[in-house]
Amino acid sequence: MLTETRRAAVDTSAAELRRIERDLHDGAQARLVAMGMDLGTIEALIEKDPAKARELLARARKSSADALTELRDLVRGIHPPVLAERGLGDAVRALALRVPIASEVNVDFDGRRAAAPVESAAYFAVSEVLTNAVKHAGADRVWIDLRHSDGMLRIAVTDNGRGGARIGTGSGLAGIERRLGTFDGVLAVSSPAGGPTMVSLEIPCELS
Ligand SMILES: Nc1ncnc2c1ncn2[C@@H]1O[C@H](COP(=O)(O)OP(=O)(O)OP(=O)(O)O)[C@@H](O)[C@H]1O
Ligand SMILES: [Mg+2]
Repeated sequence: MLTETRRAAVDTSAAELRRIERDLHDGAQARLVAMGMDLGTIEALIEKDPAKARELLARARKSSADALTELRDLVRGIHPPVLAERGLGDAVRALALRVPIASEVNVDFDGRRAAAPVESAAYFAVSEVLTNAVKHAGADRVWIDLRHSDGMLRIAVTDNGRGGARIGTGSGLAGIERRLGTFDGVLAVSSPAGGPTMVSLEIPCELS
């Protein structure tokens, strides 16, 4: 069973690497090449034809903004190696370490694994919810609980910020709800004015 889990994790990582390589090649890399060519032309034109040079500068600036957006989206979508190798608990601990506010992570199923798509959906959900806590809540603490019992993975992320979280006013929480729906999972938000905010996720799944 463990061998199977490990092989699945390795397959996932290899497919993920190929996707990242392709996305980089077609996206940010192509933009940077175009930008380099425009900059070269600008260098040649800057005295002879300043108007044309200015036009190309605007285009180069747009290429750089597009490359940045693509890199950001790519990084957001990466199934991180720590998730494939060490599972949801450790991957969430790694996320929490990167959050610039105090965090506490509790996991009651360390050493056991959910299916890769479930781990991935849960990981990106926690990532978005933590980003929200930093961006919107004005919180200085966040608590992340991951438990599994009776065939259900339950995750709760609580912050001590100002409250007011709503599903559907942005794309983050609505996106989580949609993605969890594909596993018959649900998202619930409790966020009264003045806080605290608790975002809970439930995904039916077995652990191995
Ligand atoms: N932890 C939180 N504390 C306070 N308000 C929150 C919190 N999380 C979300 N919100 C509020 O709920 C709204 C919806 O969040 P959501 O993640 O869906 O969108 P967003 O973060 O604004 O944009 P996006 O995620 O698309 O970049 C936010 O705009 C914000 O006003
Ligand atoms: Mg958001």
